[in-house]
Amino acid sequence: MYTEIIRLNGGAEDEAAISKAGGLIKAGELVGMPTETVYGLAGDALNPASSKKIYAAKGRPSDNPLIVHISDWDHLKPIVSEIPESAKLLADKFWPGPLTLIFNKSDLIPLETTGGLETVAVRMPIHPVARALIRESTGYIAAPSANASGRPSCTTAEEVYEDMNGLIPLILDGGPSDIGLESTILDLSDSVPELLRPGGISLSELTACLGNIKINPAIDGVLDPAQKPKAPGMKYRHYAPKGRLIIVEGARDKVVAAINHELMKALSTGKRAAIIASEETANKYKGDIVRSIGSLTDESEIARRLFNILREMDKLNAELIFAEAFHTPRLGMAIMNRLIRAAGHNIIYV
Ligand code: TXA
Ligand code: MG
Repeated sequence: MYTEIIRLNGGAEDEAAISKAGGLIKAGELVGMPTETVYGLAGDALNPASSKKIYAAKGRPSDNPLIVHISDWDHLKPIVSEIPESAKLLADKFWPGPLTLIFNKSDLIPLETTGGLETVAVRMPIHPVARALIRESTGYIAAPSANASGRPSCTTAEEVYEDMNGLIPLILDGGPSDIGLESTILDLSDSVPELLRPGGISLSELTACLGNIKINPAIDGVLDPAQKPKAPGMKYRHYAPKGRLIIVEGARDKVVAAINHELMKALSTGKRAAIIASEETANKYKGDIVRSIGSLTDESEIARRLFNILREMDKLNAELIFAEAFHTPRLGMAIMNRLIRAAGHNIIYV
Protein backbone atom coordinates (compact mmCIF):
# COMPACT_ATOMS: atom_id res chain seq x y z
CA MET A 1 0.00 0.00 0.00
CA TYR A 2 1.25 3.50 -0.83
CA THR A 3 1.45 5.75 2.24
CA GLU A 4 0.77 9.42 1.55
CA ILE A 5 1.86 12.17 3.97
CA ILE A 6 -0.06 15.45 3.84
CA ARG A 7 1.53 18.41 5.59
CA LEU A 8 -1.04 20.66 7.28
CA ASN A 9 -0.34 24.32 7.81
CA GLY A 10 -3.42 25.66 9.56
CA GLY A 11 -4.80 27.22 6.36
CA ALA A 12 -8.01 26.62 4.42
CA GLU A 13 -6.37 23.80 2.37
CA ASP A 14 -6.24 21.67 5.49
CA GLU A 15 -9.98 21.08 5.19
CA ALA A 16 -9.62 18.92 2.09
CA ALA A 17 -6.93 16.79 3.75
CA ILE A 18 -8.99 16.31 6.89
CA SER A 19 -12.06 15.46 4.86
CA LYS A 20 -10.04 12.89 2.88
CA ALA A 21 -8.76 11.38 6.14
CA GLY A 22 -12.30 11.30 7.61
CA GLY A 23 -13.56 9.54 4.47
CA LEU A 24 -10.85 6.89 4.80
CA ILE A 25 -11.71 6.30 8.47
CA LYS A 26 -15.44 6.02 7.71
CA ALA A 27 -14.52 3.45 5.04
CA GLY A 28 -12.70 1.35 7.67
CA GLU A 29 -9.13 2.48 6.83
CA LEU A 30 -6.46 3.79 9.20
CA VAL A 31 -4.83 7.24 9.28
CA GLY A 32 -1.81 8.63 11.16
CA MET A 33 -3.19 11.48 13.30
CA PRO A 34 -1.33 14.21 15.19
CA THR A 35 -2.32 14.84 18.81
CA GLU A 36 -0.78 17.02 21.52
CA THR A 37 0.64 13.95 23.32
CA VAL A 38 1.97 11.65 20.58
CA TYR A 39 0.79 10.66 17.09
CA GLY A 40 -2.11 8.20 17.02
CA LEU A 41 -3.03 5.43 14.58
CA ALA A 42 -6.65 6.40 14.01
CA GLY A 43 -9.53 4.12 13.04
CA ASP A 44 -13.30 4.06 13.55
CA ALA A 45 -13.83 2.98 17.18
CA LEU A 46 -17.35 1.73 16.37
CA ASN A 47 -16.14 -0.62 13.62
CA PRO A 48 -14.74 -3.95 14.86
CA ALA A 49 -12.94 -4.58 11.55
CA SER A 50 -11.17 -1.27 11.85
CA SER A 51 -9.92 -2.07 15.37
CA LYS A 52 -8.64 -5.43 14.11
CA LYS A 53 -6.70 -3.54 11.42
CA ILE A 54 -5.11 -1.36 14.11
CA TYR A 55 -3.83 -4.41 16.00
CA ALA A 56 -2.49 -5.92 12.78
CA ALA A 57 -0.71 -2.73 11.63
CA LYS A 58 0.98 -2.24 15.00
CA GLY A 59 1.69 -5.93 15.56
CA ARG A 60 -0.06 -5.40 18.89
CA PRO A 61 -1.58 -8.23 20.97
CA SER A 62 -5.37 -8.03 20.65
CA ASP A 63 -5.96 -8.08 24.43
CA ASN A 64 -4.38 -4.62 24.74
CA PRO A 65 -7.31 -2.15 24.54
CA LEU A 66 -7.48 1.06 22.49
CA ILE A 67 -8.32 4.57 23.66
CA VAL A 68 -11.49 6.09 22.15
CA HIS A 69 -11.05 9.77 21.23
CA ILE A 70 -14.02 12.16 21.28
CA SER A 71 -14.31 15.85 20.43
CA ASP A 72 -17.34 16.89 22.52
CA TRP A 73 -18.62 16.19 26.03
CA ASP A 74 -22.06 15.15 24.71
CA HIS A 75 -20.45 12.28 22.82
CA LEU A 76 -19.36 10.60 26.06
CA LYS A 77 -22.81 9.51 27.26
CA PRO A 78 -23.66 7.07 24.43
CA ILE A 79 -20.48 5.01 24.92
CA VAL A 80 -20.45 4.60 28.72
CA SER A 81 -22.92 2.98 31.14
CA GLU A 82 -22.70 5.86 33.62
CA ILE A 83 -20.77 9.09 34.12
CA PRO A 84 -19.45 9.39 37.70
CA GLU A 85 -19.33 12.82 39.35
CA SER A 86 -15.51 12.60 39.40
CA ALA A 87 -15.47 12.51 35.59
CA LYS A 88 -17.37 15.80 35.40
CA LEU A 89 -14.91 17.46 37.78
CA LEU A 90 -11.91 16.18 35.85
CA ALA A 91 -13.32 16.94 32.42
CA ASP A 92 -14.15 20.45 33.51
CA LYS A 93 -10.50 21.02 34.36
CA PHE A 94 -8.49 18.83 32.01
CA TRP A 95 -10.56 18.17 28.87
CA PRO A 96 -9.70 18.75 26.15
CA GLY A 97 -6.18 17.61 27.04
CA PRO A 98 -3.78 14.80 27.91
CA LEU A 99 -6.05 12.87 30.30
CA THR A 100 -7.69 9.50 29.53
CA LEU A 101 -10.53 8.30 31.77
CA ILE A 102 -11.76 4.72 32.05
CA PHE A 103 -15.50 4.03 32.34
CA ASN A 104 -17.77 1.02 32.24
CA LYS A 105 -18.74 0.80 28.58
CA SER A 106 -22.09 0.70 26.79
CA ASP A 107 -22.91 -1.71 23.95
CA LEU A 108 -22.05 0.88 21.32
CA ILE A 109 -18.33 0.20 21.73
CA PRO A 110 -17.37 -3.21 20.33
CA LEU A 111 -15.25 -5.60 22.40
CA GLU A 112 -12.68 -5.59 19.58
CA THR A 113 -11.93 -1.95 20.48
CA THR A 114 -11.59 -2.63 24.22
CA GLY A 115 -9.50 -5.78 23.89
CA GLY A 116 -12.40 -7.81 25.30
CA LEU A 117 -12.88 -5.60 28.40
CA GLU A 118 -16.23 -4.28 29.65
CA THR A 119 -14.58 -0.90 30.29
CA VAL A 120 -13.63 1.79 27.79
CA ALA A 121 -10.81 4.37 27.89
CA VAL A 122 -11.87 7.81 26.61
CA ARG A 123 -9.84 10.90 25.83
CA MET A 124 -10.74 14.31 24.40
CA PRO A 125 -7.61 15.66 22.66
CA ILE A 126 -6.94 19.37 22.29
CA HIS A 127 -5.01 19.22 18.99
CA PRO A 128 -7.12 21.03 16.35
CA VAL A 129 -6.38 18.45 13.64
CA ALA A 130 -7.38 15.54 15.90
CA ARG A 131 -10.57 17.35 16.88
CA ALA A 132 -11.48 18.15 13.29
CA LEU A 133 -10.77 14.58 12.22
CA ILE A 134 -12.96 13.11 14.98
CA ARG A 135 -15.81 15.35 13.78
CA GLU A 136 -15.22 14.33 10.15
CA SER A 137 -15.42 10.64 11.07
CA THR A 138 -18.08 8.86 13.14
CA GLY A 139 -17.28 10.98 16.21
CA TYR A 140 -15.38 8.10 17.85
CA ILE A 141 -11.77 7.48 16.88
CA ALA A 142 -9.83 4.55 18.33
CA ALA A 143 -6.18 5.54 18.41
CA PRO A 144 -3.25 3.85 20.06
CA SER A 145 0.13 5.50 19.76
CA ALA A 146 1.19 5.17 16.11
CA ASN A 147 4.44 3.25 16.73
CA ALA A 148 4.92 -0.41 15.85
CA SER A 149 4.24 -2.39 19.05
CA GLY A 150 7.17 -2.26 21.50
CA ARG A 151 8.94 0.69 19.84
CA PRO A 152 9.13 4.25 21.21
CA SER A 153 5.99 6.28 20.46
CA CYS A 154 6.03 8.71 17.51
CA THR A 155 6.12 12.47 18.03
CA THR A 156 6.50 13.45 14.36
CA ALA A 157 4.87 12.37 11.08
CA GLU A 158 8.28 11.13 9.85
CA GLU A 159 8.47 8.73 12.78
CA VAL A 160 4.97 7.44 11.99
CA TYR A 161 6.16 6.89 8.41
CA GLU A 162 9.17 4.88 9.68
CA ASP A 163 6.83 2.42 11.41
CA MET A 164 3.70 2.51 9.22
CA ASN A 165 4.98 2.99 5.66
CA GLY A 166 3.15 0.52 3.40
CA LEU A 167 0.62 -0.39 6.10
CA ILE A 168 -1.73 2.64 6.06
CA PRO A 169 -2.90 4.94 3.24
CA LEU A 170 -2.42 8.35 4.88
CA ILE A 171 -0.55 10.27 7.56
CA LEU A 172 -1.60 13.81 8.47
CA ASP A 173 1.49 15.81 9.39
CA GLY A 174 0.55 18.37 12.04
CA GLY A 175 4.14 19.09 13.12
CA PRO A 176 5.87 17.76 16.24
CA SER A 177 3.72 16.82 19.25
CA ASP A 178 3.67 19.51 21.95
CA ILE A 179 3.90 17.24 24.99
CA GLY A 180 5.76 14.24 23.57
CA LEU A 181 4.50 11.73 26.18
CA GLU A 182 1.20 9.90 26.17
CA SER A 183 -1.82 10.92 28.23
CA THR A 184 -2.29 10.19 31.93
CA ILE A 185 -4.71 7.26 32.41
CA LEU A 186 -7.10 7.30 35.35
CA ASP A 187 -9.51 4.44 35.98
CA LEU A 188 -12.94 5.65 37.19
CA SER A 189 -14.73 2.32 36.67
CA ASP A 190 -14.31 1.33 40.36
CA SER A 191 -15.15 3.20 43.58
CA VAL A 192 -11.69 4.74 44.14
CA PRO A 193 -10.02 6.40 41.12
CA GLU A 194 -6.78 4.62 40.19
CA LEU A 195 -3.83 5.99 38.26
CA LEU A 196 -2.83 3.43 35.63
CA ARG A 197 -0.31 5.48 33.62
CA PRO A 198 1.38 8.78 34.52
CA GLY A 199 1.41 11.29 31.67
CA GLY A 200 0.83 14.88 30.64
CA ILE A 201 -1.39 15.66 33.68
CA SER A 202 0.50 15.07 36.94
CA LEU A 203 -0.63 13.07 39.96
CA SER A 204 -0.70 16.18 42.14
CA GLU A 205 -2.98 17.96 39.64
CA LEU A 206 -5.37 14.99 39.81
CA THR A 207 -5.19 14.78 43.59
CA ALA A 208 -5.90 18.50 43.89
CA CYS A 209 -9.07 17.94 41.89
CA LEU A 210 -10.33 14.63 43.35
CA GLY A 211 -8.59 13.97 46.66
CA ASN A 212 -7.72 10.33 47.22
CA ILE A 213 -6.25 8.44 44.24
CA LYS A 214 -4.84 4.90 44.23
CA ILE A 215 -1.63 4.33 42.34
CA ASN A 216 -1.50 1.11 40.40
CA PRO A 217 1.57 -0.87 41.55
CA ALA A 218 2.58 -1.74 37.98
CA ILE A 219 3.51 1.91 37.37
CA ASP A 220 6.78 1.56 39.24
CA GLY A 221 7.46 -1.71 37.56
CA VAL A 222 6.99 -3.73 40.74
CA LEU A 223 4.39 -5.87 39.03
CA ASP A 224 3.73 -9.26 40.56
CA PRO A 225 3.83 -11.56 37.51
CA ALA A 226 0.98 -13.63 38.99
CA GLN A 227 -1.27 -10.56 39.14
CA LYS A 228 -3.27 -9.47 36.11
CA PRO A 229 -2.39 -5.83 35.35
CA LYS A 230 -5.31 -3.39 35.08
CA ALA A 231 -4.05 -1.71 31.93
CA PRO A 232 -3.14 -4.73 29.86
CA GLY A 233 -0.54 -2.65 28.00
CA MET A 234 1.55 -2.50 31.15
CA LYS A 235 2.64 -6.12 30.93
CA TYR A 236 4.35 -5.69 27.57
CA ARG A 237 7.88 -4.39 26.98
CA HIS A 238 7.59 -0.88 25.67
CA TYR A 239 9.32 2.07 24.13
CA ALA A 240 12.52 0.10 23.73
CA PRO A 241 15.42 1.06 21.48
CA LYS A 242 17.25 -1.85 19.77
CA GLY A 243 20.39 -1.40 21.90
CA ARG A 244 20.62 -2.27 25.59
CA LEU A 245 19.54 0.78 27.61
CA ILE A 246 20.84 1.24 31.16
CA ILE A 247 19.75 4.05 33.52
CA VAL A 248 22.36 5.35 35.97
CA GLU A 249 20.89 7.05 39.06
CA GLY A 250 22.42 8.95 41.95
CA ALA A 251 24.19 12.20 42.78
CA ARG A 252 25.22 14.06 39.63
CA ASP A 253 29.01 13.74 39.95
CA LYS A 254 28.81 10.08 40.82
CA VAL A 255 26.55 9.43 37.84
CA VAL A 256 28.99 11.15 35.48
CA ALA A 257 31.94 9.18 36.89
CA ALA A 258 30.05 5.87 36.73
CA ILE A 259 28.88 6.41 33.15
CA ASN A 260 32.38 7.40 32.03
CA HIS A 261 33.73 4.26 33.69
CA GLU A 262 31.10 2.01 32.03
CA LEU A 263 31.71 3.76 28.75
CA MET A 264 35.45 2.99 28.80
CA LYS A 265 34.68 -0.64 29.56
CA ALA A 266 32.22 -0.81 26.68
CA LEU A 267 34.54 0.88 24.20
CA SER A 268 37.43 -1.43 25.17
CA THR A 269 35.32 -4.40 24.13
CA GLY A 270 34.54 -2.73 20.79
CA LYS A 271 30.87 -1.94 21.64
CA ARG A 272 29.16 1.09 20.11
CA ALA A 273 28.02 3.02 23.18
CA ALA A 274 25.93 6.17 23.50
CA ILE A 275 24.89 8.49 26.31
CA ILE A 276 21.65 10.34 26.98
CA ALA A 277 22.57 13.29 29.19
CA SER A 278 21.19 16.63 30.31
CA GLU A 279 22.40 19.89 28.83
CA GLU A 280 24.15 20.55 32.17
CA THR A 281 26.22 17.34 32.06
CA ALA A 282 26.63 16.52 28.35
CA ASN A 283 30.12 18.06 28.07
CA LYS A 284 31.41 15.98 31.00
CA TYR A 285 31.30 12.71 29.03
CA LYS A 286 34.14 11.25 27.01
CA GLY A 287 32.26 9.23 24.36
CA ASP A 288 31.61 10.25 20.72
CA ILE A 289 27.87 9.70 20.90
CA VAL A 290 26.52 11.99 23.58
CA ARG A 291 23.03 13.42 23.14
CA SER A 292 21.59 16.16 25.30
CA ILE A 293 17.89 15.71 25.99
CA GLY A 294 17.58 19.32 27.19
CA SER A 295 18.10 21.35 30.33
CA LEU A 296 17.05 20.04 33.74
CA THR A 297 15.36 23.40 34.20
CA ASP A 298 13.03 22.72 31.24
CA GLU A 299 11.15 19.50 31.89
CA SER A 300 8.74 20.08 29.01
CA GLU A 301 11.65 19.86 26.61
CA ILE A 302 12.91 16.64 28.20
CA ALA A 303 9.42 15.13 27.83
CA ARG A 304 9.11 16.36 24.26
CA ARG A 305 12.47 14.91 23.20
CA LEU A 306 12.51 11.57 25.05
CA PHE A 307 10.94 9.31 22.40
CA ASN A 308 12.73 11.14 19.62
CA ILE A 309 16.12 10.53 21.25
CA LEU A 310 15.33 6.85 21.90
CA ARG A 311 14.54 6.47 18.20
CA GLU A 312 17.72 8.32 17.27
CA MET A 313 19.69 5.67 19.19
CA ASP A 314 18.51 3.09 16.66
CA LYS A 315 19.60 5.26 13.74
CA LEU A 316 23.04 5.57 15.36
CA ASN A 317 23.16 1.77 15.79
CA ALA A 318 23.96 2.20 19.47
CA GLU A 319 24.49 -1.22 21.08
CA LEU A 320 24.74 0.09 24.63
CA ILE A 321 23.02 3.25 25.84
CA PHE A 322 23.59 4.88 29.23
CA ALA A 323 20.94 7.37 30.34
CA GLU A 324 20.84 9.71 33.30
CA ALA A 325 17.63 9.76 35.35
CA PHE A 326 15.34 12.78 34.96
CA HIS A 327 13.27 13.17 38.12
CA THR A 328 11.83 16.56 37.24
CA PRO A 329 9.04 18.07 39.41
CA ARG A 330 5.84 17.84 37.34
CA LEU A 331 6.49 15.45 34.44
CA GLY A 332 9.27 13.40 36.10
CA MET A 333 6.94 10.55 37.05
CA ALA A 334 5.84 10.12 33.44
CA ILE A 335 9.33 10.63 31.98
CA MET A 336 10.86 8.05 34.33
CA ASN A 337 7.97 5.60 33.80
CA ARG A 338 8.73 5.57 30.04
CA LEU A 339 12.51 5.50 30.48
CA ILE A 340 12.42 2.63 33.01
CA ARG A 341 10.22 0.58 30.70
CA ALA A 342 12.43 1.35 27.72
CA ALA A 343 15.37 0.11 29.81
CA GLY A 344 13.51 -3.07 30.78
CA HIS A 345 14.13 -2.00 34.43
CA ASN A 346 17.91 -1.99 34.00
CA ILE A 347 19.06 0.58 36.56
CA ILE A 348 22.47 1.06 38.18
CA TYR A 349 22.28 3.00 41.47
CA VAL A 350 25.50 4.84 42.39
O1 TXA B 1 -1.79 10.12 24.62
C1 TXA B 1 -2.34 9.03 24.36
O2 TXA B 1 -3.06 8.46 25.18
C2 TXA B 1 -2.09 8.42 22.98
C3 TXA B 1 -2.71 9.37 21.92
C4 TXA B 1 -2.65 8.82 20.53
O3 TXA B 1 -4.00 9.74 22.30
N1 TXA B 1 -2.61 7.10 22.88
C5 TXA B 1 -2.03 6.04 23.53
O4 TXA B 1 -2.61 4.81 23.28
O5 TXA B 1 -1.06 6.15 24.26
P1 TXA B 1 -1.89 3.41 23.56
O6 TXA B 1 -2.79 2.42 22.97
O7 TXA B 1 -0.51 3.43 23.05
O8 TXA B 1 -1.92 3.26 25.12
C6 TXA B 1 -3.16 3.04 25.75
C7 TXA B 1 -2.99 2.37 27.08
C8 TXA B 1 -2.57 0.92 26.99
O9 TXA B 1 -1.58 0.64 27.96
C9 TXA B 1 -3.85 0.18 27.31
O10 TXA B 1 -3.62 -1.06 27.92
C10 TXA B 1 -4.57 1.16 28.24
O11 TXA B 1 -4.27 2.40 27.70
N2 TXA B 1 -6.03 0.99 28.19
C11 TXA B 1 -6.86 1.26 27.17
N3 TXA B 1 -8.13 0.93 27.47
C12 TXA B 1 -8.12 0.46 28.72
C13 TXA B 1 -9.11 -0.06 29.60
N4 TXA B 1 -10.39 -0.16 29.23
N5 TXA B 1 -8.71 -0.46 30.83
C14 TXA B 1 -7.42 -0.36 31.21
N6 TXA B 1 -6.43 0.11 30.41
C15 TXA B 1 -6.77 0.50 29.19
MG1 MG C 1 1.50 3.04 23.07
